[in-house]
Amino acid sequence: MQWPTLHERPEPAGGPPDNPLARTRPTLAIYRPKTPRGSDLSPNIFTDGGPVRTSFKPLLSRQVLLALLGGLALFSGGCAARLTGVARGQELWNGCAPCHGADASGNQSLAAPAIAGLPDWYLQRQLANFKAGIRAYHPDDFTGLHMRPMTLMLETPEDVAAVVSYVTTLTAVTPAATVTGDAAKGKVTYALCTACHQADGTGNQLLNSPPVKKLADWYVVAQLEKFKAGVRGTHPQDAFGQQMRAMSMTLADTQAMADVAAYINSL
Ligand code: HEC
Ligand code: HEC
Repeated sequence: MQWPTLHERPEPAGGPPDNPLARTRPTLAIYRPKTPRGSDLSPNIFTDGGPVRTSFKPLLSRQVLLALLGGLALFSGGCAARLTGVARGQELWNGCAPCHGADASGNQSLAAPAIAGLPDWYLQRQLANFKAGIRAYHPDDFTGLHMRPMTLMLETPEDVAAVVSYVTTLTAVTPAATVTGDAAKGKVTYALCTACHQADGTGNQLLNSPPVKKLADWYVVAQLEKFKAGVRGTHPQDAFGQQMRAMSMTLADTQAMADVAAYINSL
């Protein structure tokens, strides 16, 4: 196959010709992304139409890209013996267990929540969001920023799917109550939450709303505080987090959050 050899074309003396079309034509920014790596799920591939570069950079980068793709093909070929599916997920889970616990029942002293019992679609989305920096995007999201780099362990979408498939084999553990709240008051507040999380707290995939039943009360309060403070659910691409953020604004204070968490404990 004959690859284009444009990169061998010498640049005209005095730089590229002054072509007004060339100055306004949008260029593919995929070779020179403006946003830091990993901060954007789907990078905007068009620039604002700044001056077009000479043909050197993109084509050289294209060679690098091809080399990388070649390397990747070799890599995946060499990985034929790697574990897949739930077995791969279990292997990956060894890296998650130190914080979340081997049974995924969480560890409050590390602020790591229980994730056993959460549905695959929600786990998948959260891991993708952490990976892309859509969750733990805010610099004040200290606990989220503990979690975000852990997604580096999950190199490929297959790894994400594998660890999710393993976590969904684990059984949810009922957490101990740790906050002092008035469950009766919380029940009144929770009436609003039922629209998305359902009366029994089992969530609703059609509304992208995860189960809240069996979430530890300290984690519920911490997340409600984050949503309300804009530390979670403010990334422009976090459509579902934004929905939840709007709901958190209806909770007057931390006590109201503790009350609703106490009610959730009773579900
Ligand atoms: C260094 C400790 C640590 C390790 C290791 C870790 N996590 Fe986490 N994880 C956390 C913390 C802390 C949070 C809570 C983030 C927050 O407060 O928003 C979290 C949150 C999560 C959530 C979101 C739960 C929810 O209800 O939204 C998922 C899913 C998750 N972790 C999965 C994993 C997986 C899978 C791994 C292994 C690849 C892993 N974690 C490794 C600390 C860790
Ligand atoms: C309009 C629908 C809607 C309503 C009403 C709603 N939520 Fe949510 N909630 C969501 C969505 C969507 C998410 C997932 C956000 C994401 O993907 O990060 C969520 C996430 C959460 C989480 C975080 C779960 C986790 O594992 O990290 C908690 C806690 C929560 N909601 C509690 C509540 C409470 C309490 C109420 C009532 C005051 C409420 N929600 C009302 C849609 C809703």
